[in-house]
Amino acid sequence: MSETLTTMVADPAEKSPDQVKRTAPSRCRETQSRGLSQRARRAQGETVVSTLMAKTLAHPELISLAAGFVDATRLPVETMLKATGAVLADGKRARAALQYGTTAGYAPLRQAIFDRLLVADGQTAEQAGLTLGQIVITSGSNQLLHHVGEVLLDPDDIVLCAAPSYFVFLGIIESLGAVTVGVEADEQGIVPEAVEATLAALEKQGRAGRVKAIYVTSYFDNPSGVSVSSRRRPALVDIAARHGLYLIEDVAYRELRYRGDDLPSLRSFDAGGDTVIQAGTFSKSFSPGIRVGWGVLPRELVGPVLAQKGHLDFGSANFNQTLMAEVFARDAFDPHVQRLRDHYREKMNAALQAVDEFLRPIDGVRCESPAGGLYVWLRLPETIDTGLEGPLFDRAVEEGVLYVPGEVCYPREGVPVGRNTIRLSFGIQSCESIRDGVKSLARAIRRLD
Ligand SMILES: Cc1ncc(COP(=O)(O)O)c(C=O)c1O
Repeated sequence: MSETLTTMVADPAEKSPDQVKRTAPSRCRETQSRGLSQRARRAQGETVVSTLMAKTLAHPELISLAAGFVDATRLPVETMLKATGAVLADGKRARAALQYGTTAGYAPLRQAIFDRLLVADGQTAEQAGLTLGQIVITSGSNQLLHHVGEVLLDPDDIVLCAAPSYFVFLGIIESLGAVTVGVEADEQGIVPEAVEATLAALEKQGRAGRVKAIYVTSYFDNPSGVSVSSRRRPALVDIAARHGLYLIEDVAYRELRYRGDDLPSLRSFDAGGDTVIQAGTFSKSFSPGIRVGWGVLPRELVGPVLAQKGHLDFGSANFNQTLMAEVFARDAFDPHVQRLRDHYREKMNAALQAVDEFLRPIDGVRCESPAGGLYVWLRLPETIDTGLEGPLFDRAVEEGVLYVPGEVCYPREGVPVGRNTIRLSFGIQSCESIRDGVKSLARAIRRLD
C-alpha cells in the first residue's frame, strides 16, 4: 500500500500530467489581481457553493438534493420565542445579552457544552483531561475550523483529510496556502493504516515535517454519511499523538443519529487533552440561523485561537449565545433533537428506499446506508463523470434535480478524485420530493447510455 501511496502523494516540485488530472477541481483558484494579498488571490473565483446556488435560483422548479440545509419546517420557532421572551423580560439580563460579551464566549453556555460533552462521552472532567477553559464559543463551527487553520498552518503545510471530506474546510486549508492530502476512507471511516502509510510516503518525500493535523468528521460524515468505527477511534488518536499531530474532530452531526447507539468521541480517547481539537455546532441539531458553534481545544491552543478571535470579532454574538444557554436552562434542547431525529429518520429511509428502487438496478451503482446525518453518498460506474462540467450534471438539471458532484469533496493529493461520486442531501425536501428527485437522477443516468 505504501508504494501506491508514495506515487499518489504528489511531489510539489514535479507534477505529472496524470497527477494534475487527478487533482480535485478548483476550490481556490489563484488569480492575478493587482493589490490583493496572496491569500485573497488564492480564494478568488466562483466557489462550488455559489455555482450550485446560482443554478438553484435560476431553476426554482428543480428538486435540490444538493443544499446541506436543515429542514425549515422543523426549526425551533416556538422554543426560541419562549427563550427570547424570557431573556428580554428580565431587564438586567436583557441588557447584558445585548452588550458585547467575552472572546471565549458566554460562561453558562460554555458550561452547558462542557457538561453535555462529559455526559455524552461517559467521562468525568478528570477522565477527559478537560477544564472549562478549553471550551471556546464561535460563530458556527466553520469559524472555529477557520481559526484552527490560521493558528496551525503556514503555506505548504499539510493536513491529512479523509477522502472525501467536508469541502468547505478543504477550501479553508487551501486558501491558507496549505495542502490537503487525502487518506483512504471506507465504510468504517478513515483507515488508520492508510494514515500511517500516507505519513510514511510523505516522509520519503521529505515532507513529513509539514504535516500538522489530521481532519475527520467522526459522526455521519459530510459527504459520505460514514461514522468512524469504535475500533478505529482510539487508533486514530494514538497515531496523531505518536506523530505529534493534532487530530481535528468535526462533530457537526453527532446529535443527528437515527439508528444505533452513540459512540464516544475521538476526543474522549485523548486522556492528555493535548491532541484532539473538537469542532461542534448547533447549526444542524438546532438552528443554523443562530450560528453558534464551539471548540474543545488542547490547552496550548486556547491562547492562540483566542488571539485570532480577538482580532476577528472579540467574541461571537452574545445575544445568540445567551439564547442558546436559555434553551438548555429550559431543558428544551433534547426534546427538540428527539423530534428532529424522528423526522429525519423518515427522510433518510425515503432516500434509501428510492435509491434501492431507482438507482441500484443500474449496473455499477453503489451506496452505503448511513445511520444518521443529512447525506447519502453514491458511487456510479467509473465511466460516468458526475462533475459540474460532465454530461450527467446538465442532464440531471434537465430532468429536474440538483446534486453535489462528489469531486469537490476530494483533497488535492493522495487519493484519486472520485469523479463518479455524488452527494445527495435529504434535509430540506419532503419524502415525496426526495423520491421524485432520486427517480429523476436515475432517468438522467439512464439517458447517458
Ligand atoms: C462537517 C461540517 N462541519 C462544519 C460545518 C459548519 O457548520 P456551522 O458553521 O454552521 O456550524 C458544516 C456545515 O455544513 C459541516 O457539514
